[in-house]
Amino acid sequence: MRVLFLPLKYNLSWPLHISVQLKFTMSSKPKVLLTHKAFPQTAIDMLSEKFDVELCNSKSAQITQQDVIDNIPGKFGIFCCPPIKINEEVLKTAGPSLKVVGTMSVGYDHVDLNALKKYGVRLGNTPDVLTEAVAEIAVGLLIATTRRFFEANKALKTGGWTNYSPDWMCGRGIQDSVVGIIGCGNIGTSIAEKLNKFNIAELLYTSRSEKPAVKAIGGKLVAVDDLVKRSDFIVLSVALTPETRFIINKDRIANMKSNAVLVNIGRGDLVDQDALIEALKGNKIRGAGLDVMTPEPLPLDNPLMNMDNVVLLPHIGSATVETRREMAELTSKNIIAVLENCVMPSEVKI
Ligand code: DGY
Repeated sequence: MRVLFLPLKYNLSWPLHISVQLKFTMSSKPKVLLTHKAFPQTAIDMLSEKFDVELCNSKSAQITQQDVIDNIPGKFGIFCCPPIKINEEVLKTAGPSLKVVGTMSVGYDHVDLNALKKYGVRLGNTPDVLTEAVAEIAVGLLIATTRRFFEANKALKTGGWTNYSPDWMCGRGIQDSVVGIIGCGNIGTSIAEKLNKFNIAELLYTSRSEKPAVKAIGGKLVAVDDLVKRSDFIVLSVALTPETRFIINKDRIANMKSNAVLVNIGRGDLVDQDALIEALKGNKIRGAGLDVMTPEPLPLDNPLMNMDNVVLLPHIGSATVETRREMAELTSKNIIAVLENCVMPSEVKI
């Protein structure tokens, strides 16, 4: 058996800047396609014990949808992450060898579940391991937005910090506020627990069912309309589905308090972004802290880019080195479990 080690150094933006050493062999092991060059090496090593791991060839710096289609035929599995779409075309082109999609994300709105079912392909994702990292980003965004970190920092660096003025750069504290969490899964629950430590006045949440852990800290299960009207801070931590798309629509934005701050760590399409921009421009609400937006990457000429009452992050909710490594390793375990006919550590039920 001929074995070829091919060290590759890449500098792509998602998910990590690291070098990857892929092991190509001339064996007849099943093949797994990697959509990105920078997946953590420990996860690639785990996969390489069982599979021939192939990096998706691409002529451009960023992998495209067409690259995935060109590289997928004959693969047993695909190790991917958003925004690459796993749709009917990808699954059809893959052929009958494709058995598993491992997405290195908790969200799977980029995967067509009906098509997976049709082609008999299983899906693994990465919940739990990213809960704390994403909850930290939500709390960070909320504080940065309400306490005007970036606006104040910009003023400081551009000569706007002159004489003391008692009302300069005043924001609103979290203490004594009403916090509303839309979507109280693991991430929403962790955000609720963290924000509850700030001596808030009331904790509201929406969920399909009552969450004992949130109830235990005083959280009240309410309808979305109620939450939107009563909250000073509204945090979106719900999965994007056809039902939740634009859950924050024009009417709900119009019903928010004039001092409301909206934080989104879910997906951009949870919000009618045009309506949000209008509200922010007219100071109808106080601000927004967004780790996700539409589209991603956000074009530099998007109005959100230049608004002082908006804090934007480039979808880095799960971006800690440890979390990304754990996500990648879980993705490899999911893929290997299908090969070995074992229970997947984290399978999305289709
Ligand atoms: C997730 O895991 O879904 C993150 O948002 C990364 O896309």
